[in-house]
Amino acid sequence: MEDCNRRIIAPSILAADWAHIADEIARAESAGADWLHLDVMDGHFVPNISFGPQFVAAVRPHAGLPLDVHLMIERPDVYLPAFVKAGADRITVHVEAEHDVSDTLKKIREAGCKCGLAINPDSHFHTVEPYLDQIDLLLVMTVRPGFGGQAFMEEETMPKVAAGRDWRRKHDLHYHIEVDGGIDTATVAIAAAHGANVMVAGTSLFRAKDMAESVEMMRLA
Ligand code: DX5
Ligand code: ZN
Repeated sequence: MEDCNRRIIAPSILAADWAHIADEIARAESAGADWLHLDVMDGHFVPNISFGPQFVAAVRPHAGLPLDVHLMIERPDVYLPAFVKAGADRITVHVEAEHDVSDTLKKIREAGCKCGLAINPDSHFHTVEPYLDQIDLLLVMTVRPGFGGQAFMEEETMPKVAAGRDWRRKHDLHYHIEVDGGIDTATVAIAAAHGANVMVAGTSLFRAKDMAESVEMMRLA
C-alpha cells in the first residue's frame, strides 16, 4: 500500500523543452523529482493537443522515474492499451470523459498500472464519490485543463481536496491526492494544508532558475 502522506513532486513535461526531452528528463531526475507527469491532450476533451502513446514510449527509456500519465482525452478506454504498452506506470482518467469509469479503472489495474481519477474545477465532488474505493489516486485539477502556466484556482478546488481527504479518512481508504495546475512554491503549501500530497508542476519547475532548489522548497512547504 502506498503512503498517501508522503510528499511527492511530479514535474509536468508539458512545460519542458520537447526538442531536448531526454536532457529535460535527466534534469528533473537530478533535481530530485519523484514522478514524471505526462499531460496527454486530444483536442476534444480539452482545447489543446499535446502528445500520444508514441511520445510516452519515446520518453520511457530515458526516464528512471515512474511515469504518471494524465489522460485529458475523451475516450481513455479506447487508448488505454496503447498507453500501457508505451510504459505508463500510473494512468489517470477524467470522471467527465465519455467512458464507463469503473470499467476503465478496473482495466488500468488489470494491466498492472496504478489508477487515478481526475476531476475538473467546474465538477462537483459528488461526481467522483462512487469511484473513490476503486482508485490509487484522486487528481483535483487546480486549473481548467488544456494549458500550462495558468493561475491556481483556490476557491473552486481546495474544498474538493479537503473533501477527498475527509472521505479517505472516513472510509479508511489510502489514495493519493494530487493537484495539477498553477502549483508553485507558494500554492503548494495551500494545497498541502487541505490534504494534497502529490504536487504536479510544469512552469514553476521547468522554468525555475534552480530546479533542485524549487523541488526541495515544494517538498518542505
Ligand atoms: C493543464 C495541465 C497543466 C500542467 C501544469 O491541462 O495539466 O496543469 O500539468 O501546468 P503548470 O504547472 O504550468 O500550471
Ligand atoms: Zn496533468
